[in-house]
Amino acid sequence: MTDRGNFGSKIGIVLATAGSAVGLGNVWRFPFMVGQNGGAAFIIVYVGCILLLGIPGMVSEFIVGRHSQANAARAYASFSNSKAWGLVGILGVLTSTIILGFYAVVAGWCMQYLGASVLGQLKGDSTFVLHYFQRFSTDPVKPAVLGVAFILLTHFVIVRGVKDGIERVSKLLMPLLFILLLIIVGASCSLPGAGKGVEFLLKPDFSKLSSQVFLEALGQAFFSLSLGTACLCTYASYFSRHTHLLQAAGQIALVDLLIAVLSGLMIFPAAFSVGVLPDSGPSLIFITLPNVFQQAFAFMPMLGYVISIMFYALLVFAALTSTISMHEIGTAFFSEEFGMRRSHAAWILTIVCGLIAVFCSLSIGQADLQLFGKSLMDFCDFVTAQVMLPLGALLTSILVGWCASKVVVRNEFTNHETASSKSFFGFYMFCVRFIVPVCILLILMHQFGVI
Ligand code: PHE
Repeated sequence: MTDRGNFGSKIGIVLATAGSAVGLGNVWRFPFMVGQNGGAAFIIVYVGCILLLGIPGMVSEFIVGRHSQANAARAYASFSNSKAWGLVGILGVLTSTIILGFYAVVAGWCMQYLGASVLGQLKGDSTFVLHYFQRFSTDPVKPAVLGVAFILLTHFVIVRGVKDGIERVSKLLMPLLFILLLIIVGASCSLPGAGKGVEFLLKPDFSKLSSQVFLEALGQAFFSLSLGTACLCTYASYFSRHTHLLQAAGQIALVDLLIAVLSGLMIFPAAFSVGVLPDSGPSLIFITLPNVFQQAFAFMPMLGYVISIMFYALLVFAALTSTISMHEIGTAFFSEEFGMRRSHAAWILTIVCGLIAVFCSLSIGQADLQLFGKSLMDFCDFVTAQVMLPLGALLTSILVGWCASKVVVRNEFTNHETASSKSFFGFYMFCVRFIVPVCILLILMHQFGVI
């Protein structure tokens, strides 16, 4: 077996894991959900989901990974003393491999837009920008090549190892991302009429809250915290024995929430200042925002040019720290379970994800690549985010809450009674045994139309 490596510092642990959590989900989905679903009222619900489900879910994955110090499959099997539970780890490997496949396609689009911003190619009216996106995303070759290039970029970080690759890149990119974000927020909020955007994002409107909103907040919390993919379990296997798991989970969730809210403060004020109501997903980032930036900074085109470059650079950084974490799950699995060199294991993943990325990319322009009436890209997104991810988190909470030895769980949670967080153990167990599984079951039943 290869030498496993570990994160080298406390800050490295938080930044790398927060790097996994902070991604496209924060920038293109969260702000829109907040704006549409009652502003600060949604944020309150979301924070509730993070506290009662997200953090307990994270800590559970941390416990399994740190206790076993092994890849996801072995971690679940050894934590439970049963090979069958190892399947949950394998489910995580599968989920993250599929997510990496389609996520890399979008990350490749971000790279294209970064290049186009630098070359000043995104200038034009709204029809021009729309056509630019349609032409580019349905091209059979270029987006596929860029998706694969993004996976290769991820690959070269991964093969450098946990400390010299993952930790180093996260320590560089996360602060950079934060600085870029703050600069754009500053520029966006100082535009005339920006206040309406801030109000749309933050003014609480409790009348918009409904059961649907609760379910959406829950799903968003899970995806945004990278829960249910065994990603947190794999990263925790590189944590030190002294890491306070609850404290780390709290810090990571806080960073994730902060970046999500700041993303809203970056997008809405600029959009409202030019009278555009922003949408979510790819159309927000690749069609609406290039227009918004041009119009909002029309009084100073150079500033618009720089902001656009910064914005796509920020997206590339956010996506990269997330794809690194998805890649690591499979790389650790193949290298440890099949006794391979880390670089060989990484190639397996790169090739498999590269193929998924090529087919997902092709499925956007080519109607024949469909599954259950959805393009392959949308199908991969649906089946991972709506089914596999909640299932992984549900099974983890059942394992930690009901099947594992309570002494082992307590020792990991309290670092053998030394962590100051030990007084929270009872509440944590209550969440893991009851709140988390019940809420996830509700999401799944809702997903399949049972409720
Ligand atoms: N949390 C990441 C985001 O918000 C996505 C992700 C999901 C990363 C699952 C790793 C595992 O974009």
